[in-house]
Amino acid sequence: RSGRLVIAVDGPAASGKGTLARRLSAHYGLPYLDTGLLYRMVARAMLDAGHDIRDAAAAERIVASFDQAGFAEETLRGREIGEAASVVAAMPAVRKGLIERQRAFAAQDEGAVLDGRDIGTVICPEAPAKLFVTATPEVRAARRHRELAGRGEAATFEGILADIRRRDARDSGRSDAPLKAAEDAVILDTSALTVEEAVAAAVTIVNARRRG
Ligand code: CDP
Ligand code: CDP
Repeated sequence: RSGRLVIAVDGPAASGKGTLARRLSAHYGLPYLDTGLLYRMVARAMLDAGHDIRDAAAAERIVASFDQAGFAEETLRGREIGEAASVVAAMPAVRKGLIERQRAFAAQDEGAVLDGRDIGTVICPEAPAKLFVTATPEVRAARRHRELAGRGEAATFEGILADIRRRDARDSGRSDAPLKAAEDAVILDTSALTVEEAVAAAVTIVNARRRG
């Protein structure tokens, strides 16, 4: 690898951005940060402390004293936590409290791969390579359905599709750092792509950007 490289990967729930970002981090030998986990940790801490998930003052206190250690990833991946994470993620104080650690991660010497909702627009607007990963709500619901079944979490396809539509609306509709493609992002629709095909397409895009 030659030179520093930051890759920003954004997209809606279950679009495949995490899988893609992990694969790109291995391909380019770059550290990877799943920024959705940060919002999921805040949501987990809120629920564990017995707060109403809409209590913005409590969320702000939690972010201020936030320690990433002590959260097991298995406790963060459930359906309920994704939903709760999107509620706290709409709070400006929560977003503000998490910006610095994300920017510090991206500032590492070799560069980094980050995935989330606002990496290309807010966290790393200078990143040379930005991907906006999408897929139809039905394809995303089918992927999430399979994933949750694998974790032993029972849910119907229709229930998950409704979750995904609600989360899309909340993430795209909020005023602070809404989910949207950066102007210079390349949109990658993975609806009809396998993981391998999506990775190959993404590598072509990133290589073109780093030369350009
Ligand atoms: O994996 P999935 O796309 O379902 O969720 P996630 O990436 O773990 O994100 C959970 C929630 O955190 C999202 O619905 C967003 O509301 C929020 N989030 C955000 O606002 N900004 C980010 N950079 C990452 C996640
Ligand atoms: O991070 P995000 O919520 O966007 O999605 P993910 O956690 O990467 O999950 C996407 C799921 O869809 C995984 O089970 C992948 O194996 C599968 N998938 C994919 O990521 N990309 C494709 N082109 C096809 C399937």
